[in-house]
Amino acid sequence: MPVITCIDDLKAIYRRRVPRMFYDYAESGSYTEGTFRENCTDFQRIKLRQRVAVDMTGRTTESTMIGQKVAMPVALAPVGMTGMQCADGEIKAARAAKAFGVPFTLSTMSICSIEDVAEAVQAPFWFQLYVMRDQEFLEAIIERARRANCSALVLTLDLQILGQRHKDLKNGLSAPPRLTLPVLLDLATKWRWGIEMLRTKRRFFGNIVGHAKGVGDPSSLIAWTAEQFDPQLDWGKIARIRDLWGGKLILKGINDPEDARMAADFGADAIIVSNHGGRQLDGAVSSIRMLPEIVKAVGDRVEIHLDSGIRSGQDVLKALAMGAHATHIGRAFIYGLGAMGEAGVTRALEVIQKELDITMALCGERDVKALGRHNLLIPPDFL
Ligand code: FNR
Repeated sequence: MPVITCIDDLKAIYRRRVPRMFYDYAESGSYTEGTFRENCTDFQRIKLRQRVAVDMTGRTTESTMIGQKVAMPVALAPVGMTGMQCADGEIKAARAAKAFGVPFTLSTMSICSIEDVAEAVQAPFWFQLYVMRDQEFLEAIIERARRANCSALVLTLDLQILGQRHKDLKNGLSAPPRLTLPVLLDLATKWRWGIEMLRTKRRFFGNIVGHAKGVGDPSSLIAWTAEQFDPQLDWGKIARIRDLWGGKLILKGINDPEDARMAADFGADAIIVSNHGGRQLDGAVSSIRMLPEIVKAVGDRVEIHLDSGIRSGQDVLKALAMGAHATHIGRAFIYGLGAMGEAGVTRALEVIQKELDITMALCGERDVKALGRHNLLIPPDFL
């Protein structure tokens, strides 16, 4: 077992184990990947204030997310095709999150279905919904999430049209992968992944295949999703989904103070300040840099969460100190999952919690809920 001390260690193993096509799918952003990169580098520009001679005993990372107690304010973000990073990946990640005491969010575009995860994990999780044009499908999937006891609906608003990622087109991304010569050559060194995949009995894209009209197998899925993402999504449609769902609603993909204000007026339970990990609008400002403006616009009228670019406990601390109530991680847990399955997700969460705890102590704080701008030196262009 290699010694894993940081998220980058998991990423290095992940890169060796998982087919290039799925590594690239996760490790990419749209077009120039400028926003994808800045999401991380902007965290580095925020500096921490070191404090000494402060009692550091009795520290806690515990907090709440939409009223739910959490071991630390870090949820697992919805990641499409998580089950291609590792066989039954969604189930493994959900199990790790449950044991650790943080929320897991299942993507609409997951490999394992809502029912697979509910049955295997036996605990409530969050379900992420993309707004599709097919009303029958939309109503049915909301009903399935309710029956599976999902405790929040995370409605993604920043994908009415798909941002282009060059690598996915060049690699011919598909699940299952088409066995072309380059794919076969790549699989020759990643045979462990292949054997695990062959062993799993799951139906790919279980939320959609067999449930949406005209999608009998995964090969018809890409065309279906391209035409199904609803370009007419507006606040009226969001209200209709809220009424259909009737439970806790989190709006994901807000990266502008005006949209945040509208979400707060709308009465969402939380918003996720996010640019989809740099996968949608290339050239968008990093979400951490947008956060102060959004906090100023909505205050505590809505619970503010943040994702995009978090790779460490220090990043989590900076987001919290800048005014986020909680955070979500995407790639940071995918690296762990691809590297070591369920144990890798657990390790990613342990690494982040330990970094958060130590950094908090060295900043002279004992409670994540007490972090604030007094802990930071923020570059002037962060507003
Ligand atoms: C995503 N994300 C995403 N979001 C969503 O609402 N539904 C989805 O199906 C997906 N799928 C997806 C796939 C992959 C491979 C990635 C990397 C991301 C976005 C995700 O929820 C989150 O916003 C970002 O991952 C956050 O950025 P970091 O933590 O990855 O930098």
